[in-house]
Amino acid sequence: MSFLRERATDALTTEIMRRRHLRRILDIEEQLYPKPWTHRTFVTELSEMRTGSRYYLVAYVGDVLVGYGGMWFSGDDAHITNIAVDPACQGRGVATEMMIDLSILAHDRGCTAMTLEVRHTNVAAQSLYRRFGFVPAGIRKRYYENKDDAIIMWAHGVDTSEFMERVRLIEARRP
Ligand SMILES: CC(C)(COP(=O)(O)OP(=O)(O)OC[C@H]1O[C@@H](n2cnc3c(N)ncnc32)[C@H](O)[C@@H]1OP(=O)(O)O)[C@@H](O)C(=O)NCCC(=O)NCCS
Repeated sequence: MSFLRERATDALTTEIMRRRHLRRILDIEEQLYPKPWTHRTFVTELSEMRTGSRYYLVAYVGDVLVGYGGMWFSGDDAHITNIAVDPACQGRGVATEMMIDLSILAHDRGCTAMTLEVRHTNVAAQSLYRRFGFVPAGIRKRYYENKDDAIIMWAHGVDTSEFMERVRLIEARRP
């Protein structure tokens, strides 16, 4: 019985981002990024969710918010703007879980492609995205605050059954 209770409190779940999550999100954001998004930026993004042009989610382990992420929809493309996980919870599949949700949503909305920018030194993130079928497609020179280059990555065929098979395989293999 105690074993079951422990599993439940450790469960990894996702839900749509709300304003009430922002205090905790900003706490994580400020730990992770030299130029963190502000409260105002998140509020603007959340208000845009009403128009259907954005989607943001959060991830919980038990009742602790440990990650968040989201994307913009532009024409047939979904552009991932942010994926972030509390440093204390990284390497446990939290970002993978959020990417599964975002990928399924992009597929269900009929998007043909997903794209994002990632710092050229960010090996963990690049490895995550490659697993979802993203490949490097170009460089944005001096894109970041410290003049680091960004690698532009694209995943094509997001509307296909092959893409969904890939996502379902990742889903099936997660711990
Ligand atoms: C990138 C990030 C979101 C990954 O989150 P996570 O929950 O740790 O990721 P997961 O546990 O789902 O693992 C995803 C991949 O990253 C790898 N990884 C995770 N932490 C790692 C680390 N510290 N070093 C190397 N690889 C790491 C995992 O092994 C896994 O690799 P695989 O896909 O080849 O199996 C997280 O490290 C983070 O928040 N980084 C700071 C913010 C950031 O850079 N966001 C991305 C912006 S483009």
